Amino acid sequence: MRRLAPVLRQDGVDTDLISLIKTILAACKEISFRVGQGELAGVLGSTLDENIQGETQKKLDVLANELLKDMILETGIVKAISSEEEDLPVAGNPAGKYLVTFDPLDGSSNTDINSLIGTIFSILPAKAELAADDAAQFLQAGTKQLAAGYVLYGPSTMLALTTGKGTRLYTLDKTYGGFLLTHEEVAIPSVTAEFAINMSNQRHWEPAMQQYVQDLLLGKTGPRGKNFNMRWIAAMVGDVHRILCRGGIFMYPTDTKDPQKPYKLRLMYEANPMSFLVEQAGGSSTTGYARIMDIAPTDIHQRVSVILGSRHEVESCLKYHSQ
Ligand code: AHG
Ligand code: MN
Ligand code: MN
Repeated sequence: MRRLAPVLRQDGVDTDLISLIKTILAACKEISFRVGQGELAGVLGSTLDENIQGETQKKLDVLANELLKDMILETGIVKAISSEEEDLPVAGNPAGKYLVTFDPLDGSSNTDINSLIGTIFSILPAKAELAADDAAQFLQAGTKQLAAGYVLYGPSTMLALTTGKGTRLYTLDKTYGGFLLTHEEVAIPSVTAEFAINMSNQRHWEPAMQQYVQDLLLGKTGPRGKNFNMRWIAAMVGDVHRILCRGGIFMYPTDTKDPQKPYKLRLMYEANPMSFLVEQAGGSSTTGYARIMDIAPTDIHQRVSVILGSRHEVESCLKYHSQ
């Protein structure tokens, strides 16, 4: 079993970037400990506040956000952070080399039912010409990410990480306290018979998505000629983790349920880091019309339609969108 830092050093990753990732993971270890203690740590349930997205904040959303923010900014090598739980970026060291954007706790609705949750992060290069508190510095396409990952707080606490040289999985050894490499080269099978989508939104999807999912449901007797299985964890970290482990397609497509909010997932701290991990593992990630990592962001909290996973299945889905 190999430890995180020597593996990254071997890849020639900048030592500052390695220490930044280690700091993020130190915060995640603490979140993992509190999550594990659950009710005993007094961290379950909601606060009385809402975040910028108008969503009620869970106590764990706030706790995870504070831990990550404080520890990341303390490194002195980060110019600013941007989080799902912060309206605006928070400035760090104006001379810092990095920007970090994160979803401190993904799958908030799972916190009180002892189900899968996680932390998603993305690291971008800082822009010398912009001020540390300027949101514009974060508006870089996903292709500019230096590193991305998530920590999944499940039966084991696991890290999926990429620095652009493949995707690796690590498992937190809770006795030793470090993340150990447990899957060197993640390769998402290109073919799958498993899909993940919130079916309760079916009537609100675009015709292309309606048709695609209907054909999956028809199974062997339909145009796809094979049966498909369905899974939905209600935490993108859980669904993406399953796809990294055994393939599948995950979709949170455009819908018309709330005309003010045609998309659910956030580009900067959900879609981009997950797309980087998936592409580095041989999968694909698209909005249905364009590669997610090519999108030029216009807002740090912008939302986007997401279709990602096994390459051939994503291509099948795209055919419906191009017709
Ligand atoms: P968050 O808890 O950070 O707000 O994100 C939840 C997201 C994503 O993780 C998940 O796939 C999706 O919302 C679940 O949506 P439904 O409530 O429609 O199941
Ligand atoms: Mn989330
Ligand atoms: Mn969240």
